Amino acid sequence: MEKVSENVTKTLIPGIGNVYFNLQKYSTTISEEHQFIYYFDAEGKFMGGFFNGISYRRGLDNRMMKKFFDEDKFKVKIFVDENEKRKIINDVIERVERIKRYVSENDEVVKRLEDILRWDYDALQKDAIKFLSIYKPISILPPDQYLSLVLQPAEGCSWNKCTFCSFYQDRRFRVKSPDEFKEHIKKVKEFFGRAIGLRKSIFLGDANALIIPQKRLIELLKIIHDEFPISKNISNLEFSFDGIYSFLDIFGAERKNLQEYIELKNFHVKRIYIGLETGDSELFKYLNKPGSPDECVDVVETIKKAGINVGIIVLAGAGGDKFYEAHIKNTIETILKMPFSNGDIIYLSPLVLDEADEYVKLMNELGARTLNKFEIAEQINRIKEGLKNLTQQGVKVTIYDIQEFLY
Ligand SMILES: C[S@@+](CC[C@H](N)C(=O)[O-])C[C@H]1O[C@@H](n2cnc3c(N)ncnc32)[C@H](O)[C@@H]1O
Ligand code: SF4
Repeated sequence: MEKVSENVTKTLIPGIGNVYFNLQKYSTTISEEHQFIYYFDAEGKFMGGFFNGISYRRGLDNRMMKKFFDEDKFKVKIFVDENEKRKIINDVIERVERIKRYVSENDEVVKRLEDILRWDYDALQKDAIKFLSIYKPISILPPDQYLSLVLQPAEGCSWNKCTFCSFYQDRRFRVKSPDEFKEHIKKVKEFFGRAIGLRKSIFLGDANALIIPQKRLIELLKIIHDEFPISKNISNLEFSFDGIYSFLDIFGAERKNLQEYIELKNFHVKRIYIGLETGDSELFKYLNKPGSPDECVDVVETIKKAGINVGIIVLAGAGGDKFYEAHIKNTIETILKMPFSNGDIIYLSPLVLDEADEYVKLMNELGARTLNKFEIAEQINRIKEGLKNLTQQGVKVTIYDIQEFLY
């Protein structure tokens, strides 16, 4: 075997060609001539790969998504069916078995391959059942939090009535007791095993966990700090999470005062994600969001004063052709009233209508036509253009694609 760089070795395997092994502390990537690339977590569970120009990702619930580009160069993301998923996983396992016959001289590579071979299709299916017994479905995360460790101190959405959102309609909002939360964390740790080291941060589920009354919230945050290293110097630690993150709706955000946000900041809450959706107050009413665009500006001011970053989510395409211009203009104006700084993010989420029945009904009544993918892309560009000065201040303005999410 030949060393290519600190973590990468390669070997020539008959019938395959050069096979590269990238051994990171918490992941393994195998590349066959850079044509077939597949990667695994520290327990050896298949996480995803790149085969013949199509990228695949497997979620911990063992669903699998594939992504490719359509003829208009728009990204297509679809969940594959059971047959295709089985075929991909079996193929990866067969490839690893074949490779293993030729790498007996490298103990670390052999050990990693043995770990991977323990996770065949049936073992991954069983693992998904375990995952679903610990978590309520993880419906959505902000894109920068896909690699977080999700904990669910609360389940569901305390509002659950926005016309376009169906993420949490399958569950009632409830907050866990400290004992129940400790038990949840114990199971989460068992489930992830060594693979927990790949996770970068802690995300509090579900839709607005920070709405938990402050006294209980602090109790729950203390438990998290007792159980996990957060914002610690990792020189003498296995790993450390960089902070705690959560969604919060505008109503929930208004219920806390500056002092309480400062307290959260001291518990290493780093960024709070709020759905503004639109700066247009008339359209906002059709979305049936709690609060208003102006109230969103106020809460962002308070949160930022406490030294916590924000992630603001805008619903691109909302209001169809009827609100096309007003949505762009008023959203830019509202966002520009907010006091952003380095580390804040503005997300633009292209509207998906699949389960937004209530919203579709309202828009039909109004006679608003749904925008096509080109019009939504154009609206996104116009909003980005209006916010371009913010990017120079270190604020990221980027896409939040709910169809790409898989935990
Ligand atoms: C969990 S929610 C937001 C956080 C918080 N609950 C709130 O309402 O402020 C996540 C985001 O997903 C987006 N979202 C929900 N339903 C959507 C849909 N049908 N199409 C596109 N984005 C959607 C919205 O932009 C929403 O802000
Ligand atoms: S957008 Fe947020 S507040 Fe509205 S229903 Fe969805 S999760 Fe709840």
